[in-house]
Amino acid sequence: MRRVAPDWWRHYFDQTWYRLHAPLFPEAQTRREVAGMIELLGVPLGAAVLDAPCGWGRHAALLAAAGYDVTGADLSPAMLSRASARAPRTAWVAADLRALPFDDNTFAAVLNVFTSLGLFHDAADDRAALAEAYRVLAPGGVFLLESMHRDEVVATYVERDAWTLPDGTEVAVRRHFDPIAGISYERMRWNHGAQRGEKRMALRLRTATEMAQLLLSAGFCNSRYWGDWDGAPFTHRAERFIAVSRKA
Ligand SMILES: C[S@@+](CC[C@H](N)C(=O)[O-])C[C@H]1O[C@@H](n2cnc3c(N)ncnc32)[C@H](O)[C@@H]1O
Repeated sequence: MRRVAPDWWRHYFDQTWYRLHAPLFPEAQTRREVAGMIELLGVPLGAAVLDAPCGWGRHAALLAAAGYDVTGADLSPAMLSRASARAPRTAWVAADLRALPFDDNTFAAVLNVFTSLGLFHDAADDRAALAEAYRVLAPGGVFLLESMHRDEVVATYVERDAWTLPDGTEVAVRRHFDPIAGISYERMRWNHGAQRGEKRMALRLRTATEMAQLLLSAGFCNSRYWGDWDGAPFTHRAERFIAVSRKA
């Protein structure tokens, strides 16, 4: 289970990942998330917004359709090609979170959504990603971080799970949590007729306390915390950790 390279995130997010995950995020749910995101960000329509990492552009495409000047950045060519097929007129940029190819003070808002601060095992990489988000934000700009958080995941930790996708693909997952490293190892096996495959990942899970400290150390201020996109308060039982912080 622990046979996962520290830079697993470099190749994990491929077309197979998309095929196995996109059906789990119905459009209506993403629309609700984006509506909540717009409320929490509080930046005017037309403002420059960076979604990094943007994945297949599920949030960025809707934000662009709503009237924001959106840029999506991601490392995965597979994700970027899905995103540009979905919204050809939006700017999709190949980039590493730790070295963003944008000028200082460019964006009114930067998003980091879906536990993407958790991909890296070395905290120095997360600090570099936060420093880049801070650098490219305009003064007073808003940084939105959304993630799972360790208190809730561990309280309800699911070691074995299985589900069937709408196209009949059967998925079986095994997980192991290392409480010292704070890393959740996951092995996902899938089959669809004669096709089958396996994917492994290792996600670093932080508590809300740790994430709040990382934000502070990166220079972000006035952080406010929510437990869901509808503005529900953050508690240790909340399924999501959403922080909205400012660049001073
Ligand atoms: C869990 S997905 C989240 C995508 C999107 N925010 C969403 O909510 O659907 C994580 C994304 O991070 C991207 N990624 C992984 N490592 C990266 C890196 N070092 N720099 C930029 N993007 C990276 C992956 O390609 C993947 O699209």
